[in-house]
Amino acid sequence: MKHLLSIDDLSVDEIESLFATAADMHDVQRREVKKLPALRGRTVVNMFFEDSTRTRSSFEIAGKWLSADVINVSAKGSSTSKGESLRDTVLTVCAMGVDGLVIRHPASGAAVQVSEWVDASVVNAGDGTHEHPTQALLDAYTLQRRLGSLEGRHVAIIGDLTHSRVFRSNVQCLTKLGARVTVVAPPTLMPSGIAAWSAAAGFETSYDLDAVLPEADAVMMLRVQRERMSGAFFPSAREYTVGYGLTRNRLALLKPDVPICHPGPMNRGLEIAADAADAAQSVVLEQVSSGLAIRMAVLYHLLAGEEA
Ligand code: CP
Repeated sequence: MKHLLSIDDLSVDEIESLFATAADMHDVQRREVKKLPALRGRTVVNMFFEDSTRTRSSFEIAGKWLSADVINVSAKGSSTSKGESLRDTVLTVCAMGVDGLVIRHPASGAAVQVSEWVDASVVNAGDGTHEHPTQALLDAYTLQRRLGSLEGRHVAIIGDLTHSRVFRSNVQCLTKLGARVTVVAPPTLMPSGIAAWSAAAGFETSYDLDAVLPEADAVMMLRVQRERMSGAFFPSAREYTVGYGLTRNRLALLKPDVPICHPGPMNRGLEIAADAADAAQSVVLEQVSSGLAIRMAVLYHLLAGEEA
């Protein structure tokens, strides 16, 4: 594995192998082992052209706990703010001798494009509305630890599908692992062409959240991404919550102990009520913790085997 750009790049065996490595990384997370020497002498650059809390921090900690040298470059404070192109910026950074480049960018396809310019291993940390593969891996890993095998388990993915790279990566990852997936959104936030896509990829679609929730073995709420909407948000925030929010009343529709996921950051009171975000079966913080283990596994698989 040279790069991680899309879930499509990974076989089921490779996903399971990443999960096995992530499980081993929990010893480091528990701080029973302080650091692993696996990436000593390697340099990892986190280049974030969009804001991030979870992904950037966890890649930084992951690299450091594997003994890599890690630096962070963000749009603000870098020469991109002076008009330097993405190509010139990544070539400049890579000319310093970089082994791994973790990139988040608002343009769909940016990570693939960067991987064609540089010799370093590239990890897609979210590109526009296209993909967020490490988020999908950590989500599936979290659910697999909670539910056992995902084979035949029914996962409902709910929310702003049109603007969600998390949904696009998750639908691929979960179906590869044998889950039954139903995606739920208001008609205005259902991606165009989804009928053909869902038929080809083997997932279901619904506009009726209240019909789907009682049948779900896990629910994944997605953030309403107003920053990616050019026009007015429709339905209105109030209508959205009434039709598609995981409200306190809707918690009663779920089977007992159904894990509630959200990739974060959450819009509390819009797509998810505080009662759901903080419920006993919420795995939101477990996702964050799993994210560190998964990102350690990804960096390990990409970089540990190469000569420093
Ligand atoms: N889920 C996710 O990508 O969160 P951040 O934007 O905080 O990295």
